[in-house]
Formats: sequence, structure tokens, C-alpha cells
Amino acid sequence: MDKFLVRGGRPLKGKIEIGGAKNSALPCLAATLLTAETVTLHNVPYVKDLITQRRLLEDLGATVLTPELRTHKVTAKNVQLFEAPYHLVKTMRASVLALGPLLARFGQAKVSLPGGCAIGTRPIDLHLKAFEQLGATVSLESGDVVARAPKGRLTGANIAFEKVTVTGTENVMMAASLADGKTIISNAAQEPEIEDLAELLNKMGARIKGAGTPTMEIEGVEALGGAQHTIIPDRIETGTFIVAAAITGGEIEVKGCNPDHIRAVIKELTSAGVDIEELNPSTLLVKRYPLFPTDMQAQYMALMTQAEGTSKITETIFENRFMHASELIRMGADIHISGNTATVSGPRKLAGAPIIASDLRASASLVLAALCASGETLIDRVYHIDRGYETIVRKLRSLGADIERITDNLATDEQGA
Ligand code: EPZ
Repeated sequence: MDKFLVRGGRPLKGKIEIGGAKNSALPCLAATLLTAETVTLHNVPYVKDLITQRRLLEDLGATVLTPELRTHKVTAKNVQLFEAPYHLVKTMRASVLALGPLLARFGQAKVSLPGGCAIGTRPIDLHLKAFEQLGATVSLESGDVVARAPKGRLTGANIAFEKVTVTGTENVMMAASLADGKTIISNAAQEPEIEDLAELLNKMGARIKGAGTPTMEIEGVEALGGAQHTIIPDRIETGTFIVAAAITGGEIEVKGCNPDHIRAVIKELTSAGVDIEELNPSTLLVKRYPLFPTDMQAQYMALMTQAEGTSKITETIFENRFMHASELIRMGADIHISGNTATVSGPRKLAGAPIIASDLRASASLVLAALCASGETLIDRVYHIDRGYETIVRKLRSLGADIERITDNLATDEQGA
């Protein structure tokens, strides 16, 4: 098996071009099964999953021409097979995206159940339930899901997903486009890839409204036709290179991306000390601030107790600047300290407790944690915070916080605020 040998320690510098979004190209290629006419897709990334998806289309009987490496011209005129076989589904779960189009256009589809995968069991029960709501009968036959539309056509329905599912939403969008009547999808996935698929389907003649919002309305049409479409840039690849610049302390120009698709990631990374500048609507210049300020370390740790996943925080300036960690732990945080690195697992619900501030920023961190904890937190030795924050109680109260200073000696300007 191939390996990567990486010798770290070099700041990455230069320019890279972002490719098309894998997770958009996969459903868009599946959508070509909805019509007998030719659909041309540009900016399809040349990656393994897309090669697999192309093979699936060819196995089903479609013709796929690639006049250029990243351009796929698909004609699914002569589809003879209506199933995604196990050997393909097991290597790539997105093969289930063939289900919706096959069922809608040919009234029948068979897909091997995906089974487990490295990131979990990942069932497709919500896809199947939605197909049933669209009028299909669904049965399990020797490990295969067999779906049939009784009179060859699906019927529009109100589909409320109990959990947000990306490929589930995509499967229903494709199926409903060729169903009789109107379909409303509620609790739909809202990813940019959903909007991209809707754009392609609408170019093919579908009538989809509301893509990118939780509720979509799809008016089924008799037939769909050919179209040309360019796949959106891959937002995950974009995010990965932003992190590459940040983690190595380098400077990378990330070209051909769409920053609007990763606003939340940009915001989060910016607050973590990454300098991200939008040179133009499709180019980001990414560098790391010379240093993430040690003075924000404690507050950042409080925030990370609420973040999904594991965060590692290394304090390189001061020994012993993790005093707030033990107090956060008393409030319910999951933090392990080893040397100068704290590992924070989140999100954890914090609960109020009596705690003690140990220094200026630690106090701020504990105040922040207390603001999101349930119940009452009593923070002792807040004289530390007075060293560096002017009227913090008053300022927080003006923002709606329920915080007060309990004092038994000198009146401060915050009293009564
Ligand atoms: C898509 O997978 C992406 N794949 C994944 O990207 C991505 O991680 C995921 O969405 C979440 O954003 C493609 O677009 C091809 P889900 P998908 O259905 O659609 C549960 C990558 O790294 N669920 O939104 O399969 C499910 O188990 C890949 O590029 C059901 O219970 O994900 C999960 O907990 C990995 N029943 C949750 O819903 C169902 O019928 C969301 O899954 C369907 C899903």
C-alpha cells in the first residue's frame, strides 16, 4: 500500500488552485441518469470517488465521454441495468445516489445496503422511508434494497426528514423532480452542494425552489433534458489548505475557491489566530498571525469546552498558565494537561460551581465559562480581573449577562450597574 512520508517543519508558501467539489460532483453525476439527453459537467475533480461514480454510470449503460480530464459528457439514453452493485457501494457509499434517479425515471432500482464504514454505521433508512412516502415499495432482498414505483412513476409528497441528511435530501430532490405533483422537503440539508445540485436540476428543466434553506418545494415535471454545468469549488479542500498555511506558519494564496461557502470555518480559524484575507471573490491569502496571543489562551480554552471534537492547546510562553483548567474541570469540562499541552474534548455541558480565579486571563476564562454554565458560579479572587478589565461587570450586564459583583468593602463604579 502507498504511504506518505512527511518531514514537517517547513512553512508552506505559494499559490494553489482549488478543484471542484467532490460532494457536489457525485450527486450531479448521478443526476445525469434522470434524462436520455446529454448532460455536460465541468470542473469534476479527478479523484477516486468520481472515477468510481463514472464506472457506476457506465455499468448501468450510460456513455461517459471526457473530452478534457475534468469534463464529463454523460448520456444515459440506454440504461439497461437498474442497480448499484455491492462491489461499488462498498467502496463508495455515494453510489446510493443512483437510487433516486433510477427509481424516478425507470420505476425501479436496486442498491446493495452500504453496511458499516470507517465513520460509523451510516444507515440509509431515511432515504428509503422518503421513497416510500413518494409511493415506492421498498423491500430488502438478500442484502439488496429493491425499490419499485407501482405504476412506474413516483408521486409528490410532504417529506419531513427526522434528521438532516445530505445524500438523503439529494436523493429525494432527484426523485421528486420526476414525480407526479408537488413535493415539499422539510428539515432539508442546506449545504452549498445541495444548492449546486438544485441549480443543475433546474437547468435540466426541474422546478426546485428553496434549495439552501430548510424547506424545499419541488414541482415534478414529465421529463428532464440536457444541460451544461460547472461544479462549485470544493469547500473542504479550501479549508484544508487554509489549515495547512496556518499550521505551518506559512503563507498560501488559495485560488478558485468560494469563501461564502466556508464562512463559519473562516470565522472560527480567524478567532484561532489565522489571518485570512480575501484578495478577490475567489482568492484567499492565508497566513498565521505571528503568534496566537498567550493572553487569549485561557478564554480560547473555555470556548473549546463547547466545540465539537478535540482541541489541543499548547502554551509556549508561560509555564503553569493552565490554572484555569482545573477550575473548568470542576465545572464539567473534559480537559487533560500533559506538559504544556491541554487537550480539550467537547462539547461538555458546564455547571456552575464555586471556583477560584488565579490570574487575570484565567479570571476572564472562568467568567466566560460561567456565562454558558447552568446554575450559579461563584468566582472568588476576582481582584485579578480588575487588573486588566475596565468595568467588566457593567459591560457584560449591558449585553444582557446576569452577573454581579459581591463586595463587602470598597464600593466600585460597577455597583448597581
Ligand atoms: C455527506 O454524507 C457527505 N458525503 C459526507 O462527506 C459528510 O461527512 C456528510 O454528508 C455530513 O456533512 C457526500 O456528500 C457524498 P448524512 P451523507 O446522510 O449524506 C444519519 C467526505 O468526507 N443518517 O448527511 O452520507 C447518518 O448516519 C464525506 O467527503 C441516518 O440515520 O451523510 C449521520 O449520522 C464523508 N439515516 C447523519 O444522519 C439515513 O438514512 C448525517 O448523515 C441517512 C443518514
